[in-house]
Amino acid sequence: MRSIKRRDFFRLSAGTTAAMLLSQCSRSQPISSTPVSAPIQFQTYRSEGGLLSLDLEAKAQSVQLGSRTANLLTYNGKVPGPLLEAKPSDKVQIRFTNQLNQPTNIHYHGLHIPPTGSGDNVFLEISPGESHTYEYQIPNNHPGGTFWYHPHKHGLVAEQLFGGLAGLFIVRGELDEIPEIKAAQEEFLVLKDFALDDNGNISDTGHMAAMTGRAGGLLTVSGQINPAMTISKGGLLRLRLLNASPSRFFRLSLEEHSMHLIATDGGAISSPVELSEVVLAPGERMEVLVQGNQKPGDYRLINQPFNPAQGGMMGGMMGGSQNSDSAETVATLTYDGESNEMSLPSQLIAVDPLPEPQTTRQFTLNHGMGGGGEMMGGGMMGGGMVFMINGKSFDPSRIDTQVTLDTVEDWEITNTGSMAHPFHVHTNKFQIISQNGQPAPYAAWKDVVSVSPGETVRIRMPFRDYTGKTVYHCHVLDHEDRGMMGTLEIQPA
Ligand code: C2O
Ligand code: CU
Ligand code: CU
Repeated sequence: MRSIKRRDFFRLSAGTTAAMLLSQCSRSQPISSTPVSAPIQFQTYRSEGGLLSLDLEAKAQSVQLGSRTANLLTYNGKVPGPLLEAKPSDKVQIRFTNQLNQPTNIHYHGLHIPPTGSGDNVFLEISPGESHTYEYQIPNNHPGGTFWYHPHKHGLVAEQLFGGLAGLFIVRGELDEIPEIKAAQEEFLVLKDFALDDNGNISDTGHMAAMTGRAGGLLTVSGQINPAMTISKGGLLRLRLLNASPSRFFRLSLEEHSMHLIATDGGAISSPVELSEVVLAPGERMEVLVQGNQKPGDYRLINQPFNPAQGGMMGGMMGGSQNSDSAETVATLTYDGESNEMSLPSQLIAVDPLPEPQTTRQFTLNHGMGGGGEMMGGGMMGGGMVFMINGKSFDPSRIDTQVTLDTVEDWEITNTGSMAHPFHVHTNKFQIISQNGQPAPYAAWKDVVSVSPGETVRIRMPFRDYTGKTVYHCHVLDHEDRGMMGTLEIQPA
């Protein structure tokens, strides 16, 4: 029996549908109650001869989401946007045009590239009808990893991301050369929720969205509802997970299979860590290996409800948006064929500990009613909500934090509010030192860390290679749009 590989899909002409392909694939077992859906497919752009060059257009377009026609915001007509793939030292040239009816820009989440000029500059504003060419180089020593791109125009980020604007940016590196990983089948899982009204338009998620962030009940994986993934008996499957939702957390488990974590936001960890479930805050990525070591059959990838409020006043009020959901199947893994027993890699790539910090800073995350930017305890509802870092809401003309190139700092982030805030820093990645005084269980490179109510997280971050102004913020994007963002200026040494 022939198993269809991902590459075959890439080579097919645009007119060939996944359904036609599935019909060519003889299946070893009757179709079960699991909905048979198409495999995950992406329009992919890879670098060639050291250059990744493409045109990218943000525009409203109707696309198919499962059985529904949805009027979404797209990159090149796709949701998620095209998958971009490059290698260290490649040049990137993205000729971007904004065909939306509002300003936008592009952020390259997790890439270590200049935050200024035509690089990862989130202070740019590209007006409707205008174009801008993003041009930068992936550094020679950039780690391989799962990164992504999305809009970052302050005030509109949640709306544009919720509308569908997001895409993967893969850097192939050392991790991809580890024999077991190279041999593994690979799937890209962009986790994203939508809320559609009867006409297929993005529905208004109501005033509570101001507090908890907008969330929808339609859970998609790479633009599909419950897509099919296959694994061979004895084989290895590498899942690259991205939570591209503006505010929804995902808590995933795979029936009868454990997941072996191999990479986090910033790339590989030093050796696989076995997990029974993974939690991804908005903006987070994880790569896991799955072994085809169970009885051939169908197994569900399940999202369990996750309550980011965890007590506090919001515990009850959150009900409508996320935590009253029941467990839901987001993808289905099917055994197909057999291969020689593939083992897990034992070593990945060392995560070197960082030197002791020169400086330690404190950041406090909270929310209140708008007005003077003052915290007025208990302000909960509606349009006046302001989200703050150290009591201040975002002002692009103010410099909140000044650091020096080639130094290392510890940042202590405390959440004095009542819901989780995934804290994210641009340009440089960090390591988590401790969470509520508990040391991190394994060393990992991160760029998002979720800070629960009442919790303090200590991160350690080196400022390398690039000077200039960038930002840090909460990756619940309604919080970011409502002020939970600060400016970071990296000064020359
Ligand atoms: Cu993915 Cu500043 O964000
Ligand atoms: Cu980012
Ligand atoms: Cu937040």
